[in-house]
Amino acid sequence: MHIMRRKLAAGNWKMNGTHADLGTLRTLAETHDTSPVDILICPPAPLLDRAAQVVEGSPLTIGGQDCHPAASGAHTGDISVAMLADAGATAVIVGHSERRTDHNERNDDVRAKANAAMAEGLMAVICLGESLAEREASNTLDIIAGQMSGSIPDLSTGENLVIAYEPIWAIGTGKVPTTDQIGEVHGFIRTRLERRFGAGVARSVRVLYGGSVKPANAAEIFAVPHVDGALVGGASLTAEDFSPIIAALEAAAG
Ligand code: PGA
Repeated sequence: MHIMRRKLAAGNWKMNGTHADLGTLRTLAETHDTSPVDILICPPAPLLDRAAQVVEGSPLTIGGQDCHPAASGAHTGDISVAMLADAGATAVIVGHSERRTDHNERNDDVRAKANAAMAEGLMAVICLGESLAEREASNTLDIIAGQMSGSIPDLSTGENLVIAYEPIWAIGTGKVPTTDQIGEVHGFIRTRLERRFGAGVARSVRVLYGGSVKPANAAEIFAVPHVDGALVGGASLTAEDFSPIIAALEAAAG
């Protein structure tokens, strides 16, 4: 049995973008108005509401970049999943390496956030990836296995879970793993998913690659088996860069 996974181009704007940048979303929505792939943009939280209004009726959807696991309460500066959903988000990135590093988030924190997102009906985009030292010590697959068992909730399905494999050393550096290295990790992730959740769920979860995806390397990366799309940082900030990446994914979708 073969279950088609709908490909996903996800943009993570990180701490970039103001009201003036919403035109990027308008351009993407017009250019890809009949896209055969899913397109998700995760702008900074203050833009979520207006971004969701801009993309309404288009194939684009909007997501958050982080969430708090609690429903509400005394957590200054944090955002609950219900607030994200209320602002029009349908997804949220959790466990990005910048959060894991800058905010000391551990696997159990990431899992709690993902659980909260799934319980609210949001899709959790859970980020995994090894550091350069871990890769050089040949520990990549052990690190990925540990992050998967620690960060991914038991109630995961193909609808509420997306995994983004993002080698930390490839994020924002212009360095990209070889297609063999990407294929090895993506194949490993698929096998681990199957072992834990069974073949049906494993076949339906999208596994994205992230880290220095650009218009020039997108097609090559999208041809790697088990790569179902990309999580794109820098190159998602302008339609000029992100649109050709989406187009490469549309071409890979056939
Ligand atoms: P990058 O970031 O595309 O700028 O390397 C990717 C990410 O952190 O999601």
